[in-house]
Amino acid sequence: MYNEKLNELLDNVKTVFENVNSRKELDDLKVLYLGKNGKITLINQLIKEVPKEEKREFGMKVNEIRNIFNNEYNTIREKIELEEINSKLNSEAIDVSLPGTEIPVGSAHPVERIIESLENLLMSMGYDVVEGPEVEKDLYNFELLNLPKGHPARDAQDTFYVKNEEYLLRSQTSPVQVRTMLEYGGNEPIRIICPGKTYRRDEDDATHSHQFTQMEGLLVDKNITLGDLKGTFEGIAKMLFGNSRETRFRPSFYPFTEPSVEMDISCFNCNGKGCNVCKGTGWITVGGAGMVNPIVLKNCGYDSNVWNGFAFGFGIERLAMLKYGVSDIRTFYVNHDIRTLKQFDRREM
Ligand code: DAH
Repeated sequence: MYNEKLNELLDNVKTVFENVNSRKELDDLKVLYLGKNGKITLINQLIKEVPKEEKREFGMKVNEIRNIFNNEYNTIREKIELEEINSKLNSEAIDVSLPGTEIPVGSAHPVERIIESLENLLMSMGYDVVEGPEVEKDLYNFELLNLPKGHPARDAQDTFYVKNEEYLLRSQTSPVQVRTMLEYGGNEPIRIICPGKTYRRDEDDATHSHQFTQMEGLLVDKNITLGDLKGTFEGIAKMLFGNSRETRFRPSFYPFTEPSVEMDISCFNCNGKGCNVCKGTGWITVGGAGMVNPIVLKNCGYDSNVWNGFAFGFGIERLAMLKYGVSDIRTFYVNHDIRTLKQFDRREM
């Protein structure tokens, strides 16, 4: 009698999984056979009634049935899980060969690029970057720099006055020298560069703009010579225009330096032979400089018997025009196609 029941269950277990396709059906079967009132569980409880000599065989048979059920259950379960993973992979598949979403990246303005490369170089030489106001006092922009009212050298730097003649839009970054010297109080060495916007009453044309950018440098210390200035300029020239550039000083005049020089580099276009970039001279002027005039040192609280130094100034747009071959300064200020800026990305700095 028990055998009959057992055989029936065995047949049952062997076929019961045939049409199972889902986890839910599988779980239901488990409950149906191995749950608290499951078929295998219940039949196992019959062992109490089985005559002693048949118990062993009965138990073995139940175990066999349970093992068959479990094996079959595990096999089907694995199959279903694999199917689930595959269908998930298919539905979530990413085609890595598709083009990505392009994120537009900005591009540094050429004027900014020149300022940054000058800052990097000069900071490595111990200079600090200092900024000053664009609305400046006549006192700092001119007077303390040895350009008293009525001085003819003011003509070249005529600028915009604010309210009265006491305030103006700075015509050069040199007032930042003055501010720094006054701040340092006459008893500390100084090494600064001051990049920033400057203004002049110029008619705008291909090489002039009423607003442009300068970078000033000032070094105050003891026993500084024109040779120190030359070495510094040489480093700047080579960094911006290549290692084979030569440099030269030409005598010049600035009220705030004595002696004053124009700083020239050998033409990078013709290597000094003469071409239209250097107007046939083989040299290109890129800035002004000189030894700080003792009058300026004194005006700003430094004892010129103890301290001396040099100062230099560059027009950043001019450097950018030369470096990138831009023929019109106004190109830097118009708000145009991003591609104009993008093209500078390809040039090495
Ligand atoms: N500030 C001068 C200019 O705008 C340039 C310059 C010349 C700056 C000589 C200096 C300097 O510091 O020493 O033309």
